[in-house]
Amino acid sequence: MLTVALPKGRIAQETLDIFEEIFGDDFKFDDRKLILQTPQFKFLLVRNQDVATYVYRQAADIGVVGLDTLEEQGLDVIRLLDLKKGVCNIAIGMKKGEKFDLSKPDLTVATKMVNITERYFAERAVSADIIKLYGSIELAPLVGLADMIVDIVETGETMRQNGLEVVEQIMVSSTYLIANKNSFLEKKNEILDIYSKIEKVVYGS
Ligand code: PRP
Repeated sequence: MLTVALPKGRIAQETLDIFEEIFGDDFKFDDRKLILQTPQFKFLLVRNQDVATYVYRQAADIGVVGLDTLEEQGLDVIRLLDLKKGVCNIAIGMKKGEKFDLSKPDLTVATKMVNITERYFAERAVSADIIKLYGSIELAPLVGLADMIVDIVETGETMRQNGLEVVEQIMVSSTYLIANKNSFLEKKNEILDIYSKIEKVVYGS
């Protein structure tokens, strides 16, 4: 029996679709239920930001989560497989036409992803004032809260409609299958079995 942590929303559904394709069964959570028990798996429905915590602490053996979240949280889990879903960029955005100049003093940057942002500026030996926000990041440069933002860009529509543009790509993110390190030792065969089945669905062959 493997416990699988899934992030609420589209990615949980897409992952369950993969399991349905593999096993030919229905994999559906009842109404508000947060656990889905099947003969082989126990699926947990958690917040995206909590998936790696459940896996890291072995409340789940495996999980599905975005690379951006893994990079931001830095929890020690095994990255098994890129599922090629939820592809997006982490990028720096500024008001359209403004110059991206890291030598400017007193740079202010608004973001949800403080650690990724800190690393980006530290690697370039730039000191920046990083302002943690929880959403609607694109608003910050428009009202003078920050010079720039570090945010997720999927279609680019939110930036475009708010008069911002990407001035620098930081990383590409997509959804990963992850595993707990101990589970990988204790349940290696089960994990490798589901890994190869998922790989076949995602990559063909
Ligand atoms: C994310 C991200 C951007 C938007 C990007 O926000 O922070 O705002 O999606 O998508 P786009 O490039 O397709 O427009 P989310 O929807 O998670 O809402 P939030 O602002 O509350 O974080």
